[in-house]
Amino acid sequence: MRAKSLISTLDFTVEEQDDILSLAGRIAAAPGDYGHLMGGRIMASLFFEPSTRTRLSFETAMLRLGGQVIGFSESASSSAAKGESLSDTIRTIDKYADLIVIRHPKEGAARVAAENTSMPVINAGDGGREHPTQTLTDLMTIRQAKRRLDNLVIGCAGDLKFGRTIHSLARNIGRYKNVSFIFVSPEELRIPTFLRAHLDAEGIRYEETADMERSIGGMDVLYMTRVQRERFFNEQDYIRLKDVYILDTHKMRLAKPDLAVLHPLPRVNEIAYEIDRDPRALYFEQAGWGLYARMALIAKMLGGAV
Ligand code: NCD
Repeated sequence: MRAKSLISTLDFTVEEQDDILSLAGRIAAAPGDYGHLMGGRIMASLFFEPSTRTRLSFETAMLRLGGQVIGFSESASSSAAKGESLSDTIRTIDKYADLIVIRHPKEGAARVAAENTSMPVINAGDGGREHPTQTLTDLMTIRQAKRRLDNLVIGCAGDLKFGRTIHSLARNIGRYKNVSFIFVSPEELRIPTFLRAHLDAEGIRYEETADMERSIGGMDVLYMTRVQRERFFNEQDYIRLKDVYILDTHKMRLAKPDLAVLHPLPRVNEIAYEIDRDPRALYFEQAGWGLYARMALIAKMLGGAV
């Protein structure tokens, strides 16, 4: 693969990425065949920010490949709490493991990690900027549901400003043929300038609206996100915006019968629980695909995958 580390969602070419997704499909079909691939290898799992799915699916992925895991799940239990710099932490772990997976509240932290080690580094979310392995999970889910990654109208709703999953997904899937976006958000949570500039420069089509009911009927995929409370400066703004779009039965009636509803989770309030029974709701399956996508990624990055 061209890149040693996965820091930005564009680090792998479309061909390399398709290769990882195909491997993920083969692993899902026969996981036992891959149970010894990472024997003797160690993954350092460094989570400086809360996580359920990303951390546990990464750790499970390494264990299911026969490897082992070290790490921490909150910065309070690492020497960061004593004031150690990120680069010093990484230079130490460089002596212990074969691969680093890092989540950090600061944008650019994963890149700093990669600059301080010879090991491959995987960005498991850096502040409000990027979340490339969630994108692999999302692509896997869309591929399974729609049997394609091209010719799609993708709706993204909620917190498009701070939602790093959207920032990575839009730039990535925008590389496939005839993919366009409908961005649904309140004015204050519209897509950030860096994403707009990227889509404009690449000639990727998108429209922006605040009206979910009028736009949902045109979507093949609807990617819901929660309002990112921890990235707001002001609690009042969060409270005002948090329930602005709630996907419910009424809105689902306006959608295509084969819509695929995704959400990176955690859900707070933005999808009514009644929707979980709708066959178009794929977010828990999506969490399941995260395991196979990460198994494939680790296998490709550390070598030895067939
Ligand atoms: C996302 C994240 O951490 O950015 N969650 C995840 O990794 N599945 C989305 C979110 O926290 O809202």
